[in-house]
Amino acid sequence: MSHHVWTAENVPDQRGRTVVVTGANTGIGFEAARILARRGAAVVLACRTPAKAAEAADRIRAAAPGSTVTTLRLDLASQASVREAAEEVRAEHGRIDLLINNAGMLGSRERTVTEDGFEATFATNHLGVFAFTGLVLDRLLPVPGSRVVTVSSLVHRSATLDLDDLQTRGKYRRDAVYGASKLANLMFTYELQRQLSASGAQTVALAAHPGMSRTEFTRDLSPANRFLFDPRIKLLTRWVLQDREVGALGMVRAAVAPDARGGEYYGPPGRAQFTGHPVRVESSATSRDPAAQRRLWRESERLTGVGYPLARLEA
Ligand SMILES: NC(=O)c1ccc[n+]([C@@H]2O[C@H](COP(=O)([O-])OP(=O)(O)OC[C@H]3O[C@@H](n4cnc5c(N)ncnc54)[C@H](OP(=O)(O)O)[C@@H]3O)[C@@H](O)[C@H]2O)c1
Repeated sequence: MSHHVWTAENVPDQRGRTVVVTGANTGIGFEAARILARRGAAVVLACRTPAKAAEAADRIRAAAPGSTVTTLRLDLASQASVREAAEEVRAEHGRIDLLINNAGMLGSRERTVTEDGFEATFATNHLGVFAFTGLVLDRLLPVPGSRVVTVSSLVHRSATLDLDDLQTRGKYRRDAVYGASKLANLMFTYELQRQLSASGAQTVALAAHPGMSRTEFTRDLSPANRFLFDPRIKLLTRWVLQDREVGALGMVRAAVAPDARGGEYYGPPGRAQFTGHPVRVESSATSRDPAAQRRLWRESERLTGVGYPLARLEA
């Protein structure tokens, strides 16, 4: 672990590299895309709302003159959209250096179901990520230094994932279902890394989390809870909440730091990991259970019908 403060200044030259960032129209995904574009990466903003993506692309072009910024329509809650988006990005890009799975949502108070019949939070935050990554992975595999970075959360630490009820047909609690999906992001990362490494791939998989960052993430909260994230009360909340420019650095470090290795997890330092520039952090014991990771992987393959182009590992 390094002792210096890791900032956007640490991002090496990204010229000639292609980076796909999901949910890049706002929040920490937007910041990450902007940082990478400023360092010369060609960035693909993969977003569910084309108008928001176009507007974000303009803002990034303005911040990074001469950069190549394109948009891709991707709604992770829809397996049809995931397939279309994967096909489109594969058609347009012979190589992808970095895939940053940032998009995610807290979800609604009541259980909702996607067009595919999946519980919406699990579908968006995990199954969409699993399918999209699997469908574009062949564009990363031949690329030296290629990485898949998936954004998890602090809340994974108190979460459990019921592998017998992935669609939460039992009792639905929004926070618990969200936490489980963020735990799934880590389990996915570790199993992906194990499979990549076992098949001799040069691509690696890492995870990151932004601590507690002021973004639009609170859109589904009550106005009172949302107020805590309001920049106008920053002086009161700065001990527990940070600006998204800093929150984004965890995934950027995981994506580009030369000393970052497959299977690592980056987030703010200290016991709380709420705020601060990213360091290597540990995830919960629950997230590191290989048997559970493998079961989640098999279920995800079954539910999405997406198989990864990697040598199969038998348990
Ligand atoms: N902010 C925090 O403190 C915090 C803490 C821990 C983890 N995280 C994680 O950080 C990631 C980014 O969140 P954020 O804080 O930057 O929140 P945000 O400002 O709400 O941004 C979330 C992004 O994800 C996109 N998204 C949501 N559902 C999608 C779908 N079905 N398909 C495609 N894109 C979708 C949103 O698109 P629209 O704008 O079109 O809705 C938006 O671009 C999430 O994975 C979240 O779990 C955030």
